[in-house]
Amino acid sequence: MIDEVKLINLLKSKKMSGEEIAKQFGTSRVAVWKKINKLKSLGYEILTDKDGYQIIKSPDKPLPAEILPDLNTKFLGKNYIYFEEVNSTNLYAKSKDFPDGTVIFAEYQTQGKGRKGRSWISSKYKGLYFSIVLKPDIEVVNLSKFSLLFPYSVFKTLKSFTTTDLKIKWPNDLYLNSKKLAGFLMESSIENNIITKLIVGIGINVNQDIQDFPDDINQVATSLKLEEGKEFSRKEIFLKILSNIEKDYLNFLKDKYLDIKNIEKNLLWLGENVSIYEDGEVIASGILKGLNGDGSLILSHNGTEEIIY
Ligand code: BTN
Repeated sequence: MIDEVKLINLLKSKKMSGEEIAKQFGTSRVAVWKKINKLKSLGYEILTDKDGYQIIKSPDKPLPAEILPDLNTKFLGKNYIYFEEVNSTNLYAKSKDFPDGTVIFAEYQTQGKGRKGRSWISSKYKGLYFSIVLKPDIEVVNLSKFSLLFPYSVFKTLKSFTTTDLKIKWPNDLYLNSKKLAGFLMESSIENNIITKLIVGIGINVNQDIQDFPDDINQVATSLKLEEGKEFSRKEIFLKILSNIEKDYLNFLKDKYLDIKNIEKNLLWLGENVSIYEDGEVIASGILKGLNGDGSLILSHNGTEEIIY
């Protein structure tokens, strides 16, 4: 058996003949040849001549061989599962008892799930669609803070990639120039008042072009590429997101503190008149005043404050 991650890293650093590879992995020349073809089909550009093989260009895909060697986390993503296609990374995350910190990534989801039963469109190779399995084992009162912590962490990371107007839309979307850039679907298991498991599903539009979005959402959704006018390295963004999420999550577990004031400053429509909808009906309207310490939203209507959970 050839360890793919190891072979990719070797062939990135030097040229190796088929014979050398076969010897190193204790396998046959035919198995090496098959593996090289597989790497080519994954998008690796491999220089091949009489002296052997060398990787000269890697695809911009968050393959395990691209992520694991550069991942500087303590536990997040150490168990990393990559799919070219899956129904939904959240559904897969719920299908087994994965270890704490497992990250499941998909290039394409056939049943990508949004909040409130909506669907999430995942254009292949264009975005970052992944779910994180966490086992926080802390009291359920912290749940509403968790639903802000992950969007806020991703917000801070994406801020370093964009010069335009990135905002947090309460409770958990990211908007770029008033269009949806990223969504979060958090599912939790609670036992005896303790959050035993969190599945944090994150979808981020990175390199989509306008035709990648269906007609019904192309006016309201956007991607980093559409707003910045250039392609981004999904791998680079993904690695930074994972490392920042781990840092923010571990800090939160330690002191249960979330910088609500800073989240508030970056809220979409802060100070503007907004309406809150539930099942298509307006349930509250008023000026968006900000956030309470527990993450709930404060609206002001004719001088009275209304709190939205
Ligand atoms: C929303 O905006 O309504 C939430 C969207 C969440 C989408 C992500 S993509 C990865 C993960 N798997 C899913 O099926 N959904 C989440």
